[in-house]
Amino acid sequence: MHLHKYEKIWLVFGLVSLIVFLSIVGVSAFSHGHTPAGGMTTIDPKKVNETAPFDKPGVTQIDDDTYQVAIVAMAFGYTAPDLKVPVGKEIIFKVTSTDVVHSFTIDNTKVNMMVVPGQITTKSYTFDKPGKYLILCNEYCGSGHHYMFTEIEVY
Ligand code: CUA
Repeated sequence: MHLHKYEKIWLVFGLVSLIVFLSIVGVSAFSHGHTPAGGMTTIDPKKVNETAPFDKPGVTQIDDDTYQVAIVAMAFGYTAPDLKVPVGKEIIFKVTSTDVVHSFTIDNTKVNMMVVPGQITTKSYTFDKPGKYLILCNEYCGSGHHYMFTEIEVY
């Protein structure tokens, strides 16, 4: 009789932990997933280098509180010279790819976007801490995928 009761308790416990586990996995998969496309604009992937703002990649100040950062992703790196942006200001990242699908992921932030050739992916972000942040690709894109990274300095 006792055994039977304990078995039931363990069965319920097992089911409850399974549900808790699944919901944690579900929630974290959702929150760590790729940012849904904010503003998707199309671009000719063969003409990226001559299409604004990618003809002059890098940081552009738009007004007192807003900066735009244009970045081209390609196998295997990011065209993003001298990435330095101020803390506490709105930074609008615009990223596109000239070849295959990459990601634009800034370590320790919520910036994690898929970069698709033919599209401009836009994401606004405000850094709240100065420092150097690693930008990396977490979308497998070929043999050099693991070497695809750069850095942004927040001052
Ligand atoms: Cu680009 Cu992985």
